[in-house]
Amino acid sequence: MGYDHIQVEIEAPIATVTLNRPKVLNALSPDLVREVTTALGGLEADESVRAVVLTGGPKVFAAGADIGDMADRSAVEQLRRDHTGRWAGVAAFTKPLIAAVNGYALGGGCELALMCDLIVAGDSARFGQPEVNLGIIPGAGGTQRWPRTAGKYVAMEVMLSGSPITARRAHELGIVNKVVPAEMTIEVARRMARQLAEKPPLALRMAKESVLKAFDSSISEGLAAERQSFYFLFSTEDQKEGMHAFLEKRKGVFKGR
Ligand code: COA
Repeated sequence: MGYDHIQVEIEAPIATVTLNRPKVLNALSPDLVREVTTALGGLEADESVRAVVLTGGPKVFAAGADIGDMADRSAVEQLRRDHTGRWAGVAAFTKPLIAAVNGYALGGGCELALMCDLIVAGDSARFGQPEVNLGIIPGAGGTQRWPRTAGKYVAMEVMLSGSPITARRAHELGIVNKVVPAEMTIEVARRMARQLAEKPPLALRMAKESVLKAFDSSISEGLAAERQSFYFLFSTEDQKEGMHAFLEKRKGVFKGR
């Protein structure tokens, strides 16, 4: 399928989705958002793909929602278009999703990175929520995901000042898994994706679901959900393969069954 604002490259068992509006620093227009969620829907269904890298390329991740597209919209128009609600398709993706961030990840770009499961940042990366400078607030999860990952005071600083933080500070705060030289970011993310792609897909899916549940439930609900997933995995071929491969001192081969 052809896209206008993104590129999708499948090198099974991984895929790379690249935001591709370089002239406007990958500003996230509604069409681009639709293409990202459509592409992820396709990759979700494609059994040959087991992990996905999401990137903006070598220079910029994304400088936020498209200001030109929003400047003169009314509240009702914005509500009808449900611009930010469309991102739910990213948060709902069940396979490992790794953000490879170079340059600016601002506004919706930062929120998009925070929807991913792992973040590899180039040393040039800058994470921020500058919406306050435009008279708005983040609308795609920023006010909720920042405090849950970096804590209240960091979230307040980022939200209220509108100033971005460096990749190194983001790493110290625990919102970035790895900081690497900018020219290595995408390759390191792909390497991580290939490593994850060798693991049992159903176990990855359940592990991801369980961790995300921790953001959204009481500990007792989370523990109950975790237990159910744990027992469920004993019904899979991959669990039998994983444990027997260990006992037979060989590498497991997992089919996602
Ligand atoms: N929406 C629409 N266009 C954007 C954009 C956005 N979020 N971010 C950048 N652009 C466009 C600029 O208008 C400019 O277009 P032009 O060449 O036609 O003038 C082009 O991308 C390059 O941006 P520019 O501002 O010239 O680059 P810079 O290196 O001087 O600054 C930023 C980079 C990211 C600091 C600056 O572009 C910026 O502050 N962008 C907005 C960030 C933001 O507020 N995001 C939240 C949106 S809700």
